[in-house]
Amino acid sequence: MTLLTYLRRKLGLTGTKLGCAEGGCGACTVMLSRFQTHTQQLLHYAVNACLAPLCSLHLVAVTTVEGIGSVARKLHPVQERIAKAHGSQCGFCTPGIVMSMYALLRNNPTPKMADMEEAFQGNLCRCTGYRPILEGYKTFTVDGGCCGGRGRENGCCMTNGSGVEKTSEEDVDVNFAPFDPTQEVIFPPELMSLSKGQRSRSLCFRGDRATWLQPDTLEEILRLKWKHPDARVVVGNTEVGIEVKFKNMVYPVILAPSFIPELNSVTHTEDGVVFGAACTLSHMGAVLRQAVETLPPHQTEVFLAVLEQLRWFAGQQIRNVAAVGGNIMTASPISDLNPVFMAAGCKLTLMDKDGSRVVQMDDSFFTGYRRTVLRPQEILVSIEIPYSQKTQFVSAFKQSPRREDDISIVTAAMSVTFTPGSNVVEDLRLSYGGMAATTVLAKRTANRLRGRCWGEELLQEACSTLAEEMTLDPSVPGGMVTYRRTLTLSLFYKFYLTVLQKTYSLQGVNVEEVKSDCVSATELYHPQTPSSVQIYQAVPKGRSQDDVLGRPMMHLSAMKQATGEAVYCDDVPLYENELYLSLITSSKAHARIISVDTSAAERLPGVVCFVFADDILGSNATGPVVYDESVLADGQVTCVGHIIGAVVADTQLHAQRAAKAVKIQYEELQPVVTIQEAIAAQSFYQPIRTIQKGDPEAGFKQADHVLEGEMHIGGQEHFYLETNATLAVPRGEDGEMELFVSTQSASKTQSLVAKALGVPANRVVVRVKRMGGGFGGKESRTTVLSTVVAVAANKLKRPVRCMLDRDEDMLITGGRHPFYGKYKVGFLNSGKVMALDVSYYSNAGNSMDLSLSVSIFTTEYFVCMYMYASCAAPTFWGRRQKSVSIFLQVRRLNLYMEGDSTPYNQILDQFTLDRCWDECLSRSEYQQRRAAIDLYNRQNRWTKRGLAIVPTKFGISFTAVFLNQAGALVHIYTDGSVLLTHGGTEMGQGLHTKMVQIASRVLGIPYSKIHISETSTNTVPNTSPTAASASSDLNGAAVQNACEILMKRLEPYKNKNPKGSWEDWVKSAYFDRVSLSANGFYKTPDLGYDFDSNSGRVFNYFSYGVACSEVEIDCLTGAHKNLSTTIVMDVGHSLNPAIDIGQVEGAFMQGLGLFTLEELHYSPRGVLLTRGPGSYKIPAFGDIPTTLTVSLLRDAPNDKAIFASKAVGEPPLFLASSVFFAIKDAISAARAESGIKGPFRLDSPASAERIRNACTDRFTKLCPPAEPGSFTPWSVQV
Ligand SMILES: Cc1cc2nc3c(=O)[nH]c(=O)nc-3n(C[C@H](O)[C@H](O)[C@H](O)COP(=O)(O)OP(=O)(O)OC[C@H]3O[C@@H](n4cnc5c(N)ncnc54)[C@H](O)[C@@H]3O)c2cc1C
Ligand code: FES
Ligand code: FES
Repeated sequence: MTLLTYLRRKLGLTGTKLGCAEGGCGACTVMLSRFQTHTQQLLHYAVNACLAPLCSLHLVAVTTVEGIGSVARKLHPVQERIAKAHGSQCGFCTPGIVMSMYALLRNNPTPKMADMEEAFQGNLCRCTGYRPILEGYKTFTVDGGCCGGRGRENGCCMTNGSGVEKTSEEDVDVNFAPFDPTQEVIFPPELMSLSKGQRSRSLCFRGDRATWLQPDTLEEILRLKWKHPDARVVVGNTEVGIEVKFKNMVYPVILAPSFIPELNSVTHTEDGVVFGAACTLSHMGAVLRQAVETLPPHQTEVFLAVLEQLRWFAGQQIRNVAAVGGNIMTASPISDLNPVFMAAGCKLTLMDKDGSRVVQMDDSFFTGYRRTVLRPQEILVSIEIPYSQKTQFVSAFKQSPRREDDISIVTAAMSVTFTPGSNVVEDLRLSYGGMAATTVLAKRTANRLRGRCWGEELLQEACSTLAEEMTLDPSVPGGMVTYRRTLTLSLFYKFYLTVLQKTYSLQGVNVEEVKSDCVSATELYHPQTPSSVQIYQAVPKGRSQDDVLGRPMMHLSAMKQATGEAVYCDDVPLYENELYLSLITSSKAHARIISVDTSAAERLPGVVCFVFADDILGSNATGPVVYDESVLADGQVTCVGHIIGAVVADTQLHAQRAAKAVKIQYEELQPVVTIQEAIAAQSFYQPIRTIQKGDPEAGFKQADHVLEGEMHIGGQEHFYLETNATLAVPRGEDGEMELFVSTQSASKTQSLVAKALGVPANRVVVRVKRMGGGFGGKESRTTVLSTVVAVAANKLKRPVRCMLDRDEDMLITGGRHPFYGKYKVGFLNSGKVMALDVSYYSNAGNSMDLSLSVSIFTTEYFVCMYMYASCAAPTFWGRRQKSVSIFLQVRRLNLYMEGDSTPYNQILDQFTLDRCWDECLSRSEYQQRRAAIDLYNRQNRWTKRGLAIVPTKFGISFTAVFLNQAGALVHIYTDGSVLLTHGGTEMGQGLHTKMVQIASRVLGIPYSKIHISETSTNTVPNTSPTAASASSDLNGAAVQNACEILMKRLEPYKNKNPKGSWEDWVKSAYFDRVSLSANGFYKTPDLGYDFDSNSGRVFNYFSYGVACSEVEIDCLTGAHKNLSTTIVMDVGHSLNPAIDIGQVEGAFMQGLGLFTLEELHYSPRGVLLTRGPGSYKIPAFGDIPTTLTVSLLRDAPNDKAIFASKAVGEPPLFLASSVFFAIKDAISAARAESGIKGPFRLDSPASAERIRNACTDRFTKLCPPAEPGSFTPWSVQV
């Protein structure tokens, strides 16, 4: 059992969250404290509770988020500051981030910014964009100061009020409680005395499937390994834990060496430093850092190379527990440390009960994929990392999709030793990971270069030999064949330059000086501390402090989220007779089901029943718009992950085991997986939409130039931190059922559940307290889970719960649509566009879902049918992808103007895009920046900078007119307190906070008197999904309506007693028998578009924004840095600038993931290969632009929405394409160096692979791609 399961299920401590179960998101971070007897030190360290085996915690104190503070008691400063800095939106990541910061402060009460950034390498947040979290926590650092003071237009936040540009006095709360490190909880004295006093600490825990043995002497562990040669030695469990959870491995005997001194010690010898195999990576890093500080530099080349790899090795939580021995013995071909150990010739001591042997880590150590020379009875005792020699130079490199906390694509270490006093190569070792089934040495290349002088000739020889030696099968797992091969050369080139640079100044060594334009290629990446500015218009002077509308009020749940008290769906306490459900899903993309065999699963412990299609009493047909899906597959499956049935058992573990034991026989049919396959098969959903405006043919004739091209934009996983969850509770009479669901669509869930159960909707109540993020992913796809859970609960008449694991969620629920577009644009010499013809194809998955709504308002649109999980609503619909093509290289000249009309004939009024554009140009200092970039690019061959400015226009309204309605219900109780309910759901976007602000304004009472408990179908019926960014507009107006009705009823009592209080008026009305409860309703007026006549209003109004971004690319590796972004966004009169800025930054960062980082890989047979944070990378802390300016356009009231505000959720997402185009700009500069000019295709995301492959140069030419069609690729572009 993991610590996380124990905390959540056994102790009911639900503050610690489950986001992935694979150590990749940090939501489960807790602090462990242990007294180390051999060093007599007390250690505090952050770990991932999802991977920590409970058995490993003997004599360990566990501190969870609940243990450091609470709303009722007192918040700890780390909880308070993240909340007050607006660093918690949905809050699902917040407890983990709080605990990472807390653990850092326990070890170092005065950290530096760099320490903090390192502490957060293992934490993800999908909502905030990270900036406010760093902003809040800067206040703990010695170099960040209160807010850093950097980049501020008007100085420090403590003197000006939170660093915002203000036009009047603000009530920004900067009163952080002081942090006093002496007041922290102490290590429990009883644990201390047990730790010091216990003589024998050998332990044995027996479970039903495994025995955990924790010996405390070397002899004992060797004896046990002799007795159990198949036993696993487990230290951090970061590898074994993944194997057990995701690869169904069973290890009956586990040997834990944490108490064995020889395996945990560090010894300095004459030749180097010897680390016990169980030493953690954090410990190893600390020892090596110390050695680097004290030893002469020439001795520390290897140590520095190890430290460089450790810097990018996983996150802190993993490094704190993962052992160096674990990394070696896992023998992963993409291990980051093994290449260094191999290049450095490290020595390993292996031991069994009869003795020891020392082996060198060379190419004979790894004998095959994840195999080594270690014999079954042996264990690894220690590794010696040698000092480097006087003439030895060592470098290590890691290239991964994301810089922080990611596994390598290619990892390398290189060591060269020169004959003393010369540049003649005496010894050369080039070690690569990611190029074979094991870490390998490029021996042929090294042999050829031995005895040669370090110079251009050697470089050429090295590259051509490496290109021959480091080959890959074109179908190799992991794909990226050309890129990986090119990297082997590019990284060698970096090493070559680095060694040249280091040897140039050495006496007697005759090497060329590195040319100044190549120097940047040798620089190691060092993150710069980000700085930011947020600019918004403050409320007019003199406005009452009680009127919080327009003020940067904190998210109402932020404090509860920071303390872990906020309740999410899976935090609802267990019902006494509750059961757990696990889904049985298809492993085939398209197949007929021949048979389903549950016999093996039935025999497993805890299994209660199975649910299949014939258990559905109502209708099996389902779907948010058209019923083209089945709740449970009936005879046929149309995607991998298609839900066939479910197992219900007593616990999650038992249910999941049983689900995996169900055997299904299929007859496979031909799947359609990619857009190209769908086009070839004419596999389109109908109708295919076309919009035409004007005369394109005439436009093309007038044009001076016509440019044609195509582009593919990959889909995106929503990656809400809280996966889909449902708890269904049958009420026992009249077919009633209550469901707790993490959904954006309470009413849709209600109706589809009722349909499946065969009961009227009035028997089903759906309740949503809050979601841990939604982003459109919980708009319609949540019902695939909630209907199945409801069917199971109904069958058993018992509460049934299911929270999907991350891999299940990614597989089953689909994501945002991939798009393929073909464009033809005609333009004048001036750049003015005369005609544009664009066809879009979107990959809609195996059912229609909301794809048609996503697709409309493009010029020609095809929704393709695919055999993979249906795509859900994006939060930003199809308009953003379309824009990529449209705005490409077509800037200011082609901007809309006031009074222009769109292709769907909507006139643009209250137009502000031109103002956003001008402000963005000036705030970003575009012209100066451009000039500086051009200069930089002339001066640097291997790093290039790029710049792009991109506008966005985003229509606000549901395109299905009937959805543009909302309701609210407001109760005033006799004590004056108000219970507010509305149709929208809270997923972190601050909707409830804004609704309270609106009610507070209309009722004229402080917001503290108003409470929102939840969203439920029995309070406000027939609600529209909380989506399309329209929820504040719709629900806000409904709330206003209800409050105005109540104010009208209270008016006589106010008039009668003008000096009375709110409570007086309420009481008087009550005694006068006046209803103190009112419904509010709103529908957006004048909407209705007709496709046939291309007329009528589609949108209520438009949101506008502009972003300018600067990037730097490393042409040799394809890595890029986000240097700067300036955003100007029109949000009308902001209801809450803190929340709106949070939405802008969060959406921008999600867009940054879409356009530069996040890649879903599918096999040619339609299997999703990227199913968790380990393989699917969303932006992390280190991806935020080094400088980020967000300005909300001032004086821009919007008369079409509540209190002159505008919608904000989705519109800014597209602005992140400015980063994509800045990258493209930088690539153009790189290509120009190779004499390549003109347009080129760059698909989205602009991943490191795509960037590198586009930067054509002498290295890429040596690694040509295999002929398409001559092989089966590992993954395809769907
Ligand atoms: C989120 C995450 C991120 C990661 N990032 C990286 C990364 O960036 N780079 C990278 O290289 N790896 C990475 N890994 C892989 C993993 O963390 C490392 O390989 C780690 O060093 C394993 O150590 P451990 O103590 O946790 O191993 P465990 O899981 O405890 O054991 C791993 C294997 O080693 C064997 N073993 C351990 N010690 C001994 C011994 N003394 N004698 C014999 N056999 C032994 C075990 O039997 C087992 O087979 C990551 C893993 C996760 C979960
Ligand atoms: S749940 Fe543990 S790291 Fe994601
Ligand atoms: S607030 Fe971080 S994931 Fe939602």
